[in-house]
Amino acid sequence: MPAIVLVGAQWGDEGKGKATDLLGSRVDAVVKFNGGNNAGHTIVIGSEKYALHLLPSGILTPGCVPIIGSGVVIDLSVLFEELDALTARGVDVSRLLVSASAHVIPSYNRSLDQVTERFMGSRRIGTTGRGIGPTYADKMARVGIRVQDIFDEAVLREKVSGALNFKNQVLVKVYNRRAVDVEQVVQELLSYAERLRPMVADTSLVLSKLLDAGRTVVLEAGQATLLDVDHGTYPFVTSSNATAGGACTGSGIPPTRVSSVIAIVKAYTTRVGEGPFPTELLDEWGERLRSVGAEYGTTTGRPRRCGWFDAVIARYASRINGVTDFVLTKLDVLTGLEEIPVCVAYDVDGVRHDEMPMTQVEFAKAKPIYQVFPGWDEDISKARTLADLPTNARAYIRGLEELTNSPISAIGVGPGREETIAVRDLLR
Ligand code: GDP
Ligand code: IMO
Ligand code: MG
Repeated sequence: MPAIVLVGAQWGDEGKGKATDLLGSRVDAVVKFNGGNNAGHTIVIGSEKYALHLLPSGILTPGCVPIIGSGVVIDLSVLFEELDALTARGVDVSRLLVSASAHVIPSYNRSLDQVTERFMGSRRIGTTGRGIGPTYADKMARVGIRVQDIFDEAVLREKVSGALNFKNQVLVKVYNRRAVDVEQVVQELLSYAERLRPMVADTSLVLSKLLDAGRTVVLEAGQATLLDVDHGTYPFVTSSNATAGGACTGSGIPPTRVSSVIAIVKAYTTRVGEGPFPTELLDEWGERLRSVGAEYGTTTGRPRRCGWFDAVIARYASRINGVTDFVLTKLDVLTGLEEIPVCVAYDVDGVRHDEMPMTQVEFAKAKPIYQVFPGWDEDISKARTLADLPTNARAYIRGLEELTNSPISAIGVGPGREETIAVRDLLR
């Protein structure tokens, strides 16, 4: 069985965690390939609710090997906090593997993220303040600290000192902050070394061997297509590649081994942080989606911005990721609406756009052109097959498939693992 990529189709929080968990016991390894603890995945198993940030969702599946790939940025304090919290709840976390080439988020990058956002004022991105952007910037500027550096004190000191040489100038002279002490950072990072060592591996090699042995590997994205640094709504994006291409670079698995790409898409749209959002509802309808859908950030607790389903975005996600299957989530949240508008195209300065506009200036001006679907009143949370759904709910699903040119292979009708309609096998 080859590798399967799982990505978010919109601006995040589509329910990727639940979807990965759903694939569950049939998966041998789950790799997180991008991002860090900016992610927040809520997974509900029976009466238990888990909020994961840095760890791959596969950590909750007995027997599955959870892997943090080289494309991830790791806040080591958060890693151990999360592992301890899961252990206290009886979850076996002993199989976790961490790439020796993943970057770590030193505490100074957390401070820089927050201070930069404040400095930007109205031009801020609305980041999660976890140090993600500065750490990826360091990676590209080749002044980052990697997991493997922590096991050689002299190398670590040289790298931290090299990075702080420049950063302290910025902190003191631009932001009027205190300089960060090299030794304090080195000692903090060294304090994790012993506990980290047994988890560290050449994860690309481990994955290659698993695939050679016919095992099933899921490559799970944090964030989503429109938050991708190349293909998203730049600059209002995260700093990593959250699309299917990033799954290969962030895990060390070649594209030739990927057999399918599953994209998770919400039955409406949400966004956290700043940036354009054509179907955003600033009225009571947006408030209704937020309250019924419980749309508050898993990571920062911020209210999520809400709007109608945007088929232009979903089509774009299908194209950019090469989507083979959509998983449509939170259909239950739409129950009770008389009519459900879906954005089918944009009007930009009087010109109709069926595809994502080429520039962000155009995208920022995009006005949604809606097609209205009739709603349904029946409780759908107990539906387990398409036939259990009201006719109008089925028509809504079929309409989205037509508008996005992609099949919907599973449908979420509630947060619980079992609250799902399986249309076709995602691991076929
Ligand atoms: P992720 O970041 O993509 O993993 O998504 P989040 O966990 O941040 O947000 C999705 C939220 O929706 C979580 O609270 C899930 O428990 C919940 N959820 C997932 N699927 C469904 C669904 O089909 N219906 C409802 N009502 N909630 C869902
Ligand atoms: P999951 O994996 C939703 C958003 C932030 C901000 C922008 C940049 O749960 O879907 P960053 O801290 O990454 O530099 O912030 O990206 N963002 C997310 N929004 N879900 C996420 O993750 C997100 N991770 C980052 O709100 O707008
Ligand atoms: Mg989330």
